[in-house]
Amino acid sequence: MGTQKVTAPLIFAISIATIGSFQFGYNTGVINAPEMIIKDFLNYTLEERLEDPPSEVLLTSLWSLSVAIFSVGGMIGSFSVGLFVNRFGRRNSMLIVNLLAVAGGCLMGFCKIAESVEMLILGRLVIGLFCGLCTGFVPMYIGEVSPTDLRGAFGTLNQLGIVIGILVAQIFGLKVIMGTEELWPLLLGFTIIPAVLQSAALPFCPESPRFLLINRKEEESAREILQRLWGTQDVTQDIQEMKDESTRMAQEKQATVVELFRSRSYQQPIMISIMLQLSQQLSGINAVFYYSTGIFKDAGVQEPIYATIGAGVVNTIFTVVSLFLVERVGRRTLHMTGLGGMAVCSIFMTISLLLKDDYKWMSFVCIGAVLVFVAFFEIGPGPIPWFIVAELFSQGPRPAAMAVAGCSNWTSNFLVGLLFPSAAFYLGAYVFIIFTGFLIVFLVFTFFKVPETRGRTFEEITQAFEAQAREGNRAEKGPIVEMNSIQPMKETATV
Ligand SMILES: *[C@@H]1O[C@H](CO)[C@@H](O)[C@H](O)[C@H]1NC(C)=O
Repeated sequence: MGTQKVTAPLIFAISIATIGSFQFGYNTGVINAPEMIIKDFLNYTLEERLEDPPSEVLLTSLWSLSVAIFSVGGMIGSFSVGLFVNRFGRRNSMLIVNLLAVAGGCLMGFCKIAESVEMLILGRLVIGLFCGLCTGFVPMYIGEVSPTDLRGAFGTLNQLGIVIGILVAQIFGLKVIMGTEELWPLLLGFTIIPAVLQSAALPFCPESPRFLLINRKEEESAREILQRLWGTQDVTQDIQEMKDESTRMAQEKQATVVELFRSRSYQQPIMISIMLQLSQQLSGINAVFYYSTGIFKDAGVQEPIYATIGAGVVNTIFTVVSLFLVERVGRRTLHMTGLGGMAVCSIFMTISLLLKDDYKWMSFVCIGAVLVFVAFFEIGPGPIPWFIVAELFSQGPRPAAMAVAGCSNWTSNFLVGLLFPSAAFYLGAYVFIIFTGFLIVFLVFTFFKVPETRGRTFEEITQAFEAQAREGNRAEKGPIVEMNSIQPMKETATV
């Protein structure tokens, strides 16, 4: 870091884009707090219609459907990223899909007045579609407008937007704010406000210069935007790099999803992208969040929602820590540090859960382990998988790669949510050992397969993969990992 100026137009463009990440976080977190209230709404509405109280099973199914359909929307949305970004451009895609946010927000916000369960469920589907699209658009836009030296730090802002969204949703969901019988439709409909703000501001954000030059061949406007965003007149080298990429793209076959898996030079990066997404979700982060409420209750925390908010604060703080480390320490090191730290914490969680009935203080060990686990997550596995996909591919295959990666993330997220409760039921405390296993596998994978992308241009990264594909599959290694960098973080987080 250091050579690159951080200009106001760049900060503005990236902040506006990350409203999309905020939306994803907000809508992920918003549904948990008002569970009982919404179930009452379902009960009441159905009773009016059926003239009989609905069965417990029907209510639970409808509730689960309203929760889960968000993920279904997300899977479809994330997979459709490619339909938008090359046709409308990166910025305009973000602008257009805000219509979905407004539509979804209205459906959910008015479902109570309309006494319509269908509107609630449809609204969750539409907002899921929107969030799925955002998880592709935002990291792509940020990656394409950021200077090479700051791509990782700005990429982390995507995750910061997500965790702030979750935190805000949890706070708004408190009974003293909007988590009440009267106000919960506003809580769900709130998503319209950031959508309107983003729509008002996006016209003042530039289109991605890489998109303009490589996809649209508009060299002059690309140059002007680069000069303004990066605060330097001398962008010749970057323009030349894009032109080279453009020339190569013209020779390549069209990069469809199928082509990603067939072409030898894409196989390696697409496998890395999928594995990193899986490492994020199979790390058990959501399972731990889900389970932590019970753990906090056992330890005598009166209102577990405040403990959840505490975890949200830890989330936010450590995402900021990662933001400052990612350009110094590198993606590989941070990702491995995060996975390793989480593996250790998950062992502590298992042990403390097994012993908590014998020793009361073990509950506090468990809470400590949960918080440190969350901290390590945000150091690496939280932010890195989202933006590294944009780094591993050149302009042609990038949209398809973002679609595949995003869809893997949403799908694995969904499956963990679906399977974890029964796994926890059958395995008890031992359930976290499964995640320890996954974490170790992903740690080893990252060590052998994931290259360091810090400070390298897209061109350099892609060419390294192509050289590798030509050469056979010799794994490329980044710098040696300094494992002692784990210690200081761990201490700060346990306090
Ligand atoms: C649904 O509401 C009725 C009263 O209208 C109540 O007796 C019943 O227990 C409620 N069911 C659930 C599952 O809350």
